[in-house]
Amino acid sequence: MKKISIALWLLLPTWLIAQNHINIIPQPVAVFPITGSFIIDENASLQFNEQQKEVKAVADFFSSTVKKLSGIQLAKNAGKAKRIFIQLQSLSEVGKEGYQLTINPTSLMLAANSKAGLLYGVQSVLQLLPAVRTNEVLEIPCMQVTDYPRFKWRGMHLDVSRHFFGPDVIKAYIDLMATYKMNVFHWHLVDDGGWRIEIKKYPLLTKVGAWRVDKNNLPWGQRPQAKAGEQATYGGYYTQEQIKEIIAYAAEKNITIVPEIEMPGHVASAIAAYPELSCSQIPQLPLTGGNYNNISSNYCAGNDNVYQFLQNVLTEVIDLFPSAYIHIGGDEVDKGPWKKCARCQAKIKANGLKNEEELQSYFIKQIEKMVIAKKRKIIGWDEILEGGLAPDAAVMSWRGEAGGVEAAKMHHEVIMSPGNPCYFDNYQAGPEGEPLAIGGMNTLKSVYDYEPIPKELNSSEAKYVLGAQGNVWTEYISTAAHLEYMILPRMLALSEVLWSPKSTLNWNNFNNKLKNHTKGFDQKGIHYSKGNFRVNINTISEQGNLKVNMFTEADNAKIYYSIDGSTPDIGSLLYTQPFYINSSQIIKAVTVVDGLVMSTKPSEQIFAIHKGVAKNVNYLTPYSTYYPANGNNTLTDGIRGTLDHGKNWHGFNGADLTATIDLGTVQQVSSISLGCIQNYRSWIFLPKLVQFEVSLDGIKYVQVGNDINNLSNTEQSVFIKNFKTNFTEQAVRFIRVTAKDAGNCPKGHPGEGKPGWMFADEIVIQ
Ligand code: ACM
Ligand code: ZN
Repeated sequence: MKKISIALWLLLPTWLIAQNHINIIPQPVAVFPITGSFIIDENASLQFNEQQKEVKAVADFFSSTVKKLSGIQLAKNAGKAKRIFIQLQSLSEVGKEGYQLTINPTSLMLAANSKAGLLYGVQSVLQLLPAVRTNEVLEIPCMQVTDYPRFKWRGMHLDVSRHFFGPDVIKAYIDLMATYKMNVFHWHLVDDGGWRIEIKKYPLLTKVGAWRVDKNNLPWGQRPQAKAGEQATYGGYYTQEQIKEIIAYAAEKNITIVPEIEMPGHVASAIAAYPELSCSQIPQLPLTGGNYNNISSNYCAGNDNVYQFLQNVLTEVIDLFPSAYIHIGGDEVDKGPWKKCARCQAKIKANGLKNEEELQSYFIKQIEKMVIAKKRKIIGWDEILEGGLAPDAAVMSWRGEAGGVEAAKMHHEVIMSPGNPCYFDNYQAGPEGEPLAIGGMNTLKSVYDYEPIPKELNSSEAKYVLGAQGNVWTEYISTAAHLEYMILPRMLALSEVLWSPKSTLNWNNFNNKLKNHTKGFDQKGIHYSKGNFRVNINTISEQGNLKVNMFTEADNAKIYYSIDGSTPDIGSLLYTQPFYINSSQIIKAVTVVDGLVMSTKPSEQIFAIHKGVAKNVNYLTPYSTYYPANGNNTLTDGIRGTLDHGKNWHGFNGADLTATIDLGTVQQVSSISLGCIQNYRSWIFLPKLVQFEVSLDGIKYVQVGNDINNLSNTEQSVFIKNFKTNFTEQAVRFIRVTAKDAGNCPKGHPGEGKPGWMFADEIVIQ
């Protein structure tokens, strides 16, 4: 390493410091490099107070890790030439979890107010060692570090219900969390697919509810429900002894485990064990996969025995888990069974409730009373806001940020975990080239760019945001290797967002540091995603002129593209800056790093330059605010949608689309089309038919075509269909396109009987 004086170092930008091997993730609050390095070898001794149990635990962890890495057995409290001090000390600046490090060639001093701070200091020191540790000298650059976290809830969640992960996998997950200074493990122990925690009073919860018929050969969403007589062989659960051991293991690493005992929905596994807990009370088998037909997923909210059952379950849970918060779920409750249930309806009446939303709120408030009586607090998914929030409940915002904003404004504590970008079960680099995932796309950069404090909150409201969390639902994740892949390296980005001051965040610096960490993962055989090499092709519409802007997240990458439909490579056009598009064409682009095409599949964007581009569109029914795409002129922006329905598409839920376009002047027109997409898994279906009409005055319309859908709404592949009409050329000023909604989701679909979506991208007028 090149040696630079302190004064000069202070002037250096953080990325340059990183180039000099200060690869700590998350980025510390303040780092001041000093000339020289400290080498851990036989001449170094650990200095600490052996009477202090907590300090001794940290020193032992450090010493055993060094031994594992290098074979060096550090002397303890010996008179050696070099000393490594680990000590508790009153430090005003760094708070409960922070630490200070002062490293010079003969001493390494780690000080903190608490064991947690010392542990985090040790994690930083370990990250300063060379990543690949075969015969490497354990050399640490000299520096001073002052460090403490921005947020107090730095969470990772894991769903062990959809797939079960044994205690060793959980411990490895906790180890990874600890390395990156994450401090809350949200353990999703209960869901439809399996009950995973031993409850002594109700042995059938695990004897029956933890086991299902093995359909692991099929993707989750395509699994048929088990039939009577089939053997339930897939599953597992944690005994209370195992849970105690894992809680203690996590506590040693400053990780609090927040158990989630899901209710009142998502409990098909509990009902399989004790059918009397549901409204119908009909016996059922635990859920095998994504097919919810004929399964009871809710507790009966009108049955007092259910509340007694939950009181007993929560008593055992609270006796096990020391966490201040107990997560009680509360998400996605289908109110259908409650509407049909005499007991639920009687409960509504007896308590003067207005509807099933208020029944849900009543249910959660009853549970909160039980939890508060045991001096703990409840936390629930943002649906617990519906029908009135329980008085002291904390809210975990997952359906975007709105629930978190609402709760913080009501002065309730909030954890942010919006689906975008905090759901680590979504794709991160694909979907091409990645294992099948539940859908969606949360790239490393989208996580890195996440700001947990929503802009709607003022500074006093922002204080209620305790932090954020990465969520890992495991419908599509069944192995430890796949689990690692899904959280890495996204968890590292989240750790930096949650720990480091906003002013120190730097995407380039992060990427530079990351290389060192992925080298370490390679050496340890830990799986991770190599990154998102997709090219984002964005278009800006400027009064009918389309400008193309291309971007790749990959570090040190170039973009090559074609405009003739050919597959681009390093011989194609090199993208240097945004450019205008004047004619219909297809752009294909790839990311190239070090002369190698990295994209598994070229990104594509079709441009349709036609008579309607940039013309105003009036909608009879507004498009969904969830799918605003490029705003009001999405249907005339010349930009075709791709198979990614989240981009360039307008969505309509349970409604027809009627769009009128004014061309501004009378023009000769002979064909009109409307692009629509079908994505069965995302509840998006083609319209029944599309009707095309034209007019000269905007009052009297003549129909010029009617294209009826002839494709099946049960087709599960994602595809685009252009509904079209060709007619004898005629003078036209106004065009009206009506797409008739296909109605409810079809039979056999998870949303059967509920309104489906209809999506459209462009009205092409020639
Ligand atoms: C959730 O993802 N249903 C909380
Ligand atoms: Zn009921």
